[in-house]
Amino acid sequence: MKQKILVTGGVGFLGSHLCDKLVAQGHDVLCVDNFFTGTKANVAHLMSHPNFELMRHDVTFPLYVEVDEIYNLACPASPIHYQWDPVQTTKTSVHGAINMLGLAKRVKAKILQASTSEVYGDPEVHPQPESYWGKVNPVGIRSCYDEGKRCAETLFFDYWRQHQLEIKVVRIFNTYGPRMHPKDGRVVSNFIVQALKGEDITIFGDGSQTRSFCYVDDLSEAMMRAMSTGSDFTGPVNIGNPREFTMLELAELVLRLTTSKSKIVHKPLPQDDPKQRKPDIRLAKEAFGWAPKVSLEDGLRETVTYFKKII
Ligand SMILES: NC(=O)c1ccc[n+]([C@@H]2O[C@H](COP(=O)([O-])OP(=O)(O)OC[C@H]3O[C@@H](n4cnc5c(N)ncnc54)[C@H](O)[C@@H]3O)[C@@H](O)[C@H]2O)c1
Repeated sequence: MKQKILVTGGVGFLGSHLCDKLVAQGHDVLCVDNFFTGTKANVAHLMSHPNFELMRHDVTFPLYVEVDEIYNLACPASPIHYQWDPVQTTKTSVHGAINMLGLAKRVKAKILQASTSEVYGDPEVHPQPESYWGKVNPVGIRSCYDEGKRCAETLFFDYWRQHQLEIKVVRIFNTYGPRMHPKDGRVVSNFIVQALKGEDITIFGDGSQTRSFCYVDDLSEAMMRAMSTGSDFTGPVNIGNPREFTMLELAELVLRLTTSKSKIVHKPLPQDDPKQRKPDIRLAKEAFGWAPKVSLEDGLRETVTYFKKII
């Protein structure tokens, strides 16, 4: 059935792909963004579509619109961007959640929160199941993001308990793909841009730390499936690709796909950088039959093609 759907952070990397998929399914999509990290270019192809509308708005202020579903993605996601104005980052997560939950309550909309694997901090449990409460530094330079997202989860569950809102909390692990910001300092975009420019590929630490990488199409599919679950399903639910790669393996794959002659160089590890991160995705499989399908090599190939066009 055709729904009126609000996507906050809709011109960002993940938000723009989600808007594409929702519009393609015939829904009416209202994309809201303050353009802090996202750009109009990410949704330029949707601007003339009759089912798509773009609104400049900051989610730290209340929003009055009529919608059936809300995907709350507004928040800078990369350390370079969220550490640029940490107070605003926490406000975006916390006030943004309060405002979007208030809207959901008023119009009786279903609401999904784009939470993050960062709620697990530097985990002692590996892989991380949703039942793990995390090991997070509350006073470090990453705390504005990690604690902001944790507080947003708390708000979602309190609105669910107190006001019987229909909520879905998804914890997103590292995701990559076309439309990633070329200067956001995330490892996939960094490596690809460095390789394409023939610059040294920078690995922090010895490169043995692992990450798992989920392709953006798999991620959007998971968010939409989570949204379509029954009212008894709230999450939190992990979404990500459990296949682990070391930073060294990723760098070598990028070098091969770009046929670059760049050299790999090592720099010291930043503060609070988790050594390992890998989702346990059994709940997503059980609750809405989801598992990632796109291999790292295929996803990287698409991403390299995108970066070749924009740099
Ligand atoms: N990409 C990932 O790997 C990843 C991992 C975990 C969680 N997430 C979460 O998914 C969401 C989207 O991430 P992304 O990778 O697309 O990042 P992004 O930076 O590309 O997108 C975020 C969007 O939110 C907008 N925004 C920021 N502050 C805002 C505000 N106050 N009001 C309105 N809009 C605002 C930005 O302009 C941008 O368009 C974020 O909430 C992020 O925390 C992403």
